[in-house]
Amino acid sequence: MEKRVHLKGRLQVLSDYAKGSDTVADIGCDHGRLSVSLLQTGAANTVYACDISRDSLEKARALRDKCGLTDKMHICLTDGLHNLPSQPDTVIIAGMGGILISEILSAVPDVAKCAERIIMQPMRTVSQLRKFLHTSGYHITREQLCKDAGRIYQLILAKYVGEMQDFSILPKGFYEFGELMIKNRDPLLPELIMRMRRELSEAKERAEKNGAELTVLTEKLKILEETAHEM
Ligand SMILES: C[S@@+](CC[C@H](N)C(=O)[O-])C[C@H]1O[C@@H](n2cnc3c(N)ncnc32)[C@H](O)[C@@H]1O
Repeated sequence: MEKRVHLKGRLQVLSDYAKGSDTVADIGCDHGRLSVSLLQTGAANTVYACDISRDSLEKARALRDKCGLTDKMHICLTDGLHNLPSQPDTVIIAGMGGILISEILSAVPDVAKCAERIIMQPMRTVSQLRKFLHTSGYHITREQLCKDAGRIYQLILAKYVGEMQDFSILPKGFYEFGELMIKNRDPLLPELIMRMRRELSEAKERAEKNGAELTVLTEKLKILEETAHEM
């Protein structure tokens, strides 16, 4: 019997964001669970399961074959968006750093700009990714926090529109958390802010002991305090 993949948490939310896609490029597919589930649930008709690692692709291939999806899930050895078989309408880049995600998008701008949806789940450097998106003409249309195995993740859906936003009207914590998360009062935002404040305060204490430069940490903490106050 063909195996079925059941997602939960972060991967399930990513899959929900992709519902109604024709062709998805799952960049950095690793184990291939998301790619398989997108096809099994009908969220997509075709998936390019892409990774830069041959070992990851072997895992994805084995899972695909167990699930009987050979004709719909194409295994692609790629660096980011380079050399995809065709233009996908949805691009998913999850489980990587925000800076790497922005580098992947800017390395092949034609593919990124033509995608209807770019679904991202950065592991860190989220503010740098948001800055990239907004200074490069991408518009964030949906975003939310998701708690999975005790960790809080940020999920971002964006599309290229070719226009920059007016930042002067946005809340200060905008790059750290996102305008929509703040406006929609994401239920997990207070907890995320609390965790980040704790981490930053600890980092500041360590930096003080070592006589290191404190300006960046102090400024980040100030933004967190202000965002918490506005919530
Ligand atoms: C931590 S895993 C994330 C797997 C899955 N996307 C998820 O969210 O659970 C990151 C994957 O991205 C792949 N990767 C890193 N840089 C890449 C690049 N430039 N192009 C394609 N894949 C990349 C790695 O090989 C690894 O399999």
